[in-house]
Amino acid sequence: MTIEWKEEEKIFHLYNGRVSYMIQLVHGKYLAHAYWGNQFQMMQPSSILQFKGRAFSPMNEPSDPRFSLDTLPQEFPAFGNGDFRTPAYRLQSPDGSTVTHFVYDSFEIMKGKPLIKGLPMTYVENTLEADTLVITMVDSMLGVGMNLYYTIYRDFDIITRSVSIENLGSGEVSIQQCMSMSVDFHNSKWDWLHLQGTWARERHIERRPLIHGVQSISSSRGASSHQHNPFLALLSKDATEDHGMVYGISLVYSGNFQASIEVDPFETTRISMGINPLNFSWLLNPGEIFQTPEALMVYSSEGLGGMSRTFHKIIRSRVCRGVYRDRTRPILINNWEATYFHFTEKKLKEIADVAKDLGIELFVLDDGWFGHRDNDKSSLGDWVVNGKKLPHGLKGLASYLNGLGMQFGLWVEPEMVSPDSDLYRNHSDWCLHVPGRNRTLSRNQLVLDLSREDVCNWLIETLTTLFQSASIRYVKWDMNRNMTEVGSALLPPERQQETSHRYMLGLYRILEVLTQRFPEILFESCSGGGGRFDLGMLYYMPQTWTSDDTDAVERLKIQYGTSMVYPALAMGAHVSDVPNHQVGRMTPLWMRCHVAMAANLGFELNIDKLSRDDKALVRQEIQFYHQIKNVVLFGDLYRLLSPFEGMDTAWMYVAENQEQAVVFYYKTLATPNPPFFRLKLRGLNPKLKYKINDNKRVYYGDELMKIGMSLPPIKTDFFSEIYYLKRDA
Ligand code: DGJ
Repeated sequence: MTIEWKEEEKIFHLYNGRVSYMIQLVHGKYLAHAYWGNQFQMMQPSSILQFKGRAFSPMNEPSDPRFSLDTLPQEFPAFGNGDFRTPAYRLQSPDGSTVTHFVYDSFEIMKGKPLIKGLPMTYVENTLEADTLVITMVDSMLGVGMNLYYTIYRDFDIITRSVSIENLGSGEVSIQQCMSMSVDFHNSKWDWLHLQGTWARERHIERRPLIHGVQSISSSRGASSHQHNPFLALLSKDATEDHGMVYGISLVYSGNFQASIEVDPFETTRISMGINPLNFSWLLNPGEIFQTPEALMVYSSEGLGGMSRTFHKIIRSRVCRGVYRDRTRPILINNWEATYFHFTEKKLKEIADVAKDLGIELFVLDDGWFGHRDNDKSSLGDWVVNGKKLPHGLKGLASYLNGLGMQFGLWVEPEMVSPDSDLYRNHSDWCLHVPGRNRTLSRNQLVLDLSREDVCNWLIETLTTLFQSASIRYVKWDMNRNMTEVGSALLPPERQQETSHRYMLGLYRILEVLTQRFPEILFESCSGGGGRFDLGMLYYMPQTWTSDDTDAVERLKIQYGTSMVYPALAMGAHVSDVPNHQVGRMTPLWMRCHVAMAANLGFELNIDKLSRDDKALVRQEIQFYHQIKNVVLFGDLYRLLSPFEGMDTAWMYVAENQEQAVVFYYKTLATPNPPFFRLKLRGLNPKLKYKINDNKRVYYGDELMKIGMSLPPIKTDFFSEIYYLKRDA
């Protein structure tokens, strides 16, 4: 891969043999977006841009009446000087003006990828993996410099972007908006796809055509949110799972975000993504630098499937970190849906005894073990074990589990405080609040003010003591409300709108310290399920509790939608009881197992109460999971049938060497007198011969992909099957 500056054509060209990204310098000042897509041979790249004077579009260069910022496809458009479309940034100078004029100053090309201080990001393990272009723009009147960072990876069809703003002058500058990326596509015949939902119904897929004007998704909840994932994709009209052009953009950030698309009258499509400008500003003192979170931009000419596989690979290998990054994870049992707040040490041990016998490796103690928390009304912040429930403490329980040969994991919700807690009684100003205003409760709790260094330091030390208090090998880090009355007692009035972003920086610092201090703890992030399923959290915690909805049928949509961006290795999935606690549905145990086995398998039920037959089934499925888990967790995903389109769902994972594959098929409601049907597989080696589930018959990969695999007659609702394909010698 490489980055070139073509002096004659005034073009920066980033390419890696498959993907190419071009930025053209126009009039020596302005950065125009020339191209992003498949790399191709070209004699005159500088002729890509077209110019024409348009009525009501300002003339930014009097000597060139064809030129206007209003119609130029741009790289990082300003506000206030001629482009009336969605700006990428807006700065306010000490005189109150928000007009800026940044022009090109210089560039630097470097090997590797520089760190973004205090923020999560994609990384490299050696400098040969990526090259970075830094373009510096300057507004000399304002005395502010801006660096645009572009990294191209050698092995992934990915460009990453981020922006830093430096105050080079002597006055304060207020950043009112600064997105992480902006791209102007030269046409508008696209669909856009995003992931929407709510609690227990996260990341449902929505695809619709673009319209003229602005369309956007965002979160102002203080978390990336259940409602909108910080991701969107542009798709060519013909794009499917396997075919067509797809541009996927995702933000490495867990807080308020905005992703917007604007189609202008000349069919230019502008996409931008970054911190939500709503209720955001940042005061930059002389000498200070502000840097945006990073945006990941994936290009796929192999449809949505190609986009997802690229996201999965980079997330698995260059977003997630730590010793668990490349490891399969222990099969766990969590006591939440089994007991909720009402457990005794005896009950936990009963669950653990049976779980161990069936092959489960880790026991997770969920909410309710601390303070006097017998419901969700108290004790968050008082991270001291409840001696009534656990007379032998966490240490006692952990030793018992270790004695069984199981590991011990613990639930915490560190970012929160209950008004009924010693922490709140002693430090009532430690939560986000606005003096004199109501402190709105949600799930009876308030949010600690992590924009404060002292609060973060207290949390780091409190959690360090807690994590050292027993042999803890797993932590579930929960976060069960969104933010209201966002204000901080320590910030001056002119910095109050920095609170949300400072909160994220505080949280990231805490996570950095704790994950470094406790490298052997497997952290799983959670926000009432998937309310913060994003690349920011995955940088610190390599898996996320996908949803509080554990119903097998609902999970098909949730896991399918989640897989647009996130790999199976990042998803926690549990087998729970029936009737299901969220929707009351009765599904067979094997289907619940088969859905959870498509991710990091876990259990969350009174396993000790299962019948003999059901226990035998669980034991058998766990053994089978051990055989397939490497392919599922580290293989390439191919989505075959969508739960959003009918009763059938299917997906498959293929090992990198294509010698093994695992196919998951589910049918929610049976069809009477159904037509013949074959499931066409993808991603296999056409020339290799495969055996399915060790049956005698052998098939060519080609045959399974072109003719398909036949399925048994299905005469029951909630049918599911897993097929394990192995190369036949
Ligand atoms: C929300 C989580 O998503 C659940 O799994 C459980 O941990 C509860 N919080 C506990 O309060």
